[in-house]
Amino acid sequence: MSTFRSVRGMRDFLPEEAKIMRYIEAKARKTAELYGYKEIITPVVESYELLAAKAGEEVRLRMYAFKDLGDRMVALRPEFTPSVARLVATTLRNEPRPFRLFCVGSLYRYDEPQQGRYREFWQSNFEVMGSNKPEADAEIIMLTNSLMESVGLKNYTLKVGHVGVLRGIFNQEKMDEKTENQVMQLMDRKQYDDAFRLVEEAGASKKCITTLQELIELKGYKVFDIVEKMRKSVEKYKQSVAAVENLQEILKLVFESGCKINMRLDAGFARGLEYYTGIILEIYVPELDIALGGGGRYDRLIELFGGESTPAVGIAHGIDRIMLAMQKQNVTLQKEEKKNVMVIPAKDELKGEALKIANLLRNAGILVEVEVMGRKISKALEDADRRKIAYAIIVGGRELKEDAVMLRNLMKRQQNVIKIEKIAEKIKGDCS
Ligand code: HAM
Repeated sequence: MSTFRSVRGMRDFLPEEAKIMRYIEAKARKTAELYGYKEIITPVVESYELLAAKAGEEVRLRMYAFKDLGDRMVALRPEFTPSVARLVATTLRNEPRPFRLFCVGSLYRYDEPQQGRYREFWQSNFEVMGSNKPEADAEIIMLTNSLMESVGLKNYTLKVGHVGVLRGIFNQEKMDEKTENQVMQLMDRKQYDDAFRLVEEAGASKKCITTLQELIELKGYKVFDIVEKMRKSVEKYKQSVAAVENLQEILKLVFESGCKINMRLDAGFARGLEYYTGIILEIYVPELDIALGGGGRYDRLIELFGGESTPAVGIAHGIDRIMLAMQKQNVTLQKEEKKNVMVIPAKDELKGEALKIANLLRNAGILVEVEVMGRKISKALEDADRRKIAYAIIVGGRELKEDAVMLRNLMKRQQNVIKIEKIAEKIKGDCS
């Protein structure tokens, strides 16, 4: 059977791409460490009910959901946030707050495959749980900036909004939560006419529509000017005024921290997931029109899962899309220069010696491959050259009698006989 292919929307990562994915993951893990986020590992399969609770229609309809053999309705996780919230609502419920939790792994959504949109994708996910203070929101912005900077991306912009401003209006208009969520979904897809129609049908006031119309026009990089305009626009809606103030405080803290992230405030911005209650965020680069990451504050999810009232804020960065952005921006990976070595036995009887030398070098921290194809020295050297290996060690009978081997520098095309005990030192010395 030679016709098997990967399933639509699923990808293989060949070594070059796998390396970039892991590089980004390592940078995310480093960021987590720098900011005090502890890693947790949660299951790929969760109960459907948990994942569907506040996912929003967009994600809910695209879940890989099925009954397991025990007749339980389960799904492959489309995001990490419900799993982390579940843990905080249950196992971790009596632990001291705040929780700073980090996850990384694969997620599954039956999205329409296209550039940057896959059915299996990867996120690094950061959640702070237990704080309702603006400094927690500011921290999420700062760590996103740190991550983007550390992978080498340029010209990225953080799109910022505040769901509390919109929810404040809808609450005062006595709109039910279902309609409220539908309106926000439509706004998220920029289907404003449909959104306003729904608002009208729900019996909201004229004032409500004009306020929403004003808000969707308010956007730009002069975030504090826009905040002032938002405040004026929503002055009749008490909860919304408080939300604007919260937004202002967060933005002020980000500026005070010295974090130089480019922010673009968009007062009519909404996101598909239904659990958001406060600030919402998405990160973009000019080369792509899809978000590299998204998140926000969600103060009621843990309670909804039966836990204590626990305000929370978090963000997930799409590792696949970060890779795509790095490729578009021609970012080169900063690498630790580690030279690799190929050990080639000159004849069959010396295979054991070759393996022994390889082990010795690995124990000294050197990257070693052994020739395993039984090729002649010249063919093995050709292969080492093609794969840009830095050194070849040729294990020959004559040199071995002197406890030595031939060390060949494949870049400089020089070779010398060297005592086995000196190889590691020599290679490391060459690299430094
Ligand atoms: P989200 O906006 O649904 O948020 O996803 C976050 C990021 O995951 C997106 O910005 C994108 O980079 C990546 N992503 C999503 N779907 C796909 C896909 N089909 N293919 C490739 N990449 C994709 C969440 O998942 C929330 N849980 C974030 C959050 C954490 N909010 C609070 N805490």
